[in-house]
Parts: sequence; C-alpha cells; structure tokens
Amino acid sequence: MGRLLMLAVACALVSQYAQGDKNVKLGKEPEPIEKFELREGNCSKAIIGDLVFQDHVHLWGVPFISRNTTSSWQGDPKIYCILALSQKDITVGSTIFVKDGGVNHTYVTLEMHSKKNNGLEYNIQIFGK
Ligand SMILES: *[C@@H]1O[C@H](CO)[C@@H](O)[C@H](O)[C@H]1NC(C)=O
Ligand SMILES: *[C@@H]1O[C@H](CO)[C@@H](O)[C@H](O)[C@H]1NC(C)=O
Ligand SMILES: *[C@@H]1O[C@H](CO)[C@@H](O)[C@H](O)[C@H]1NC(C)=O
Repeated sequence: MGRLLMLAVACALVSQYAQGDKNVKLGKEPEPIEKFELREGNCSKAIIGDLVFQDHVHLWGVPFISRNTTSSWQGDPKIYCILALSQKDITVGSTIFVKDGGVNHTYVTLEMHSKKNNGLEYNIQIFGK
C-alpha cells in the first residue's frame, strides 16, 4: 500500500516535471527573451505575398556605448511569422526581442541592443494574413 502511494507521488512529480519542460521548449515564459536572432511563428509557411513589413536596421559601433533601437509595424493582417536575422556574426553580441505585440497580433515592436563598442545590423521581415 505504502509502496503504491510512493509510486503515485513519483508519477505525479515526473509528469509535473515533464509539463514544465514542455513549457520551456514552447517558449511560454512571459518575460521577453533577448536572442541573437528571431524566428517566431510559422515561418516555414511564410510566402512573399504575405510580407507586410520589412526593415533594415543598422547601427554603427561607438566606443564605450551600447546602442538600442526599435522597429515597429501595425496594420490589419494578423502576424504569423517574424524573422529578424543578423547581418553580422554572432560574436558581435547584439540582441533582439519582441517588446510588444508579435505573433497572433496585428502589431509588433522589436527592440535591439548592441554590446558596448559594437554595432548591430538586422534584416527584419514580418508576415501576416
Ligand atoms: C540599452 O539597453 C541596455 C539594457 O536595457 C541599457 O543598459 C543601456 O543603457 C541602453 N543604452 C542606451 C544607449 O539607451
Ligand atoms: C501554425 O501552424 C499550425 C499548424 O498548421 C496551426 O495550428 C497554428 O495555428 C499556426 N499558428 C499561427 C500563429 O498561424
Ligand atoms: C498563435 O495562435 C495559434 C492558433 O491559435 C497558436 O497555436 C499559437 O500557439 C499562437 N502563438 C503565439 C506565439 O501566441
């Protein structure tokens, strides 16, 4: 009887852990996560006819300074893919994240940060329908 109870508790713990793990993999955290590049939503299904916005953001490096900027779009189509690819190598250390809106919204604000002394350069494409 006691052994059965222990088994039940162990199963509950394991399934809770598995659940938590799944949430991490799906990126469900409420805090914006700064990444080097963004590929959010159903980008494998993105077609050029659904391209609602594109931007090229380039900030030069300035000694001792970290530079920040944003890129925003809003419209009628619902966003299903956000692509923000760095035109510089990962060693530049810049980050980008969804500050507001995003996939499943009709608006988005992306914020970018450079590392001190370094610049950043992104090609941004937003797809919606
Ligand atoms: C850019 O953002 C970072 C992190 O939020 C902050 O530490 C830094 O002071 C900001 N730089 C500028 C130029 O606003
Ligand atoms: C992405 O594709 C899946 C499968 O087709 C679909 O269920 C889901 O709603 C799509 N998500 C978005 C944001 O369009
Ligand atoms: C967007 O909506 C689809 C369909 O409702 C859902 O499957 C997907 O998880 C949502 N994505 C985000 C980032 O909210």
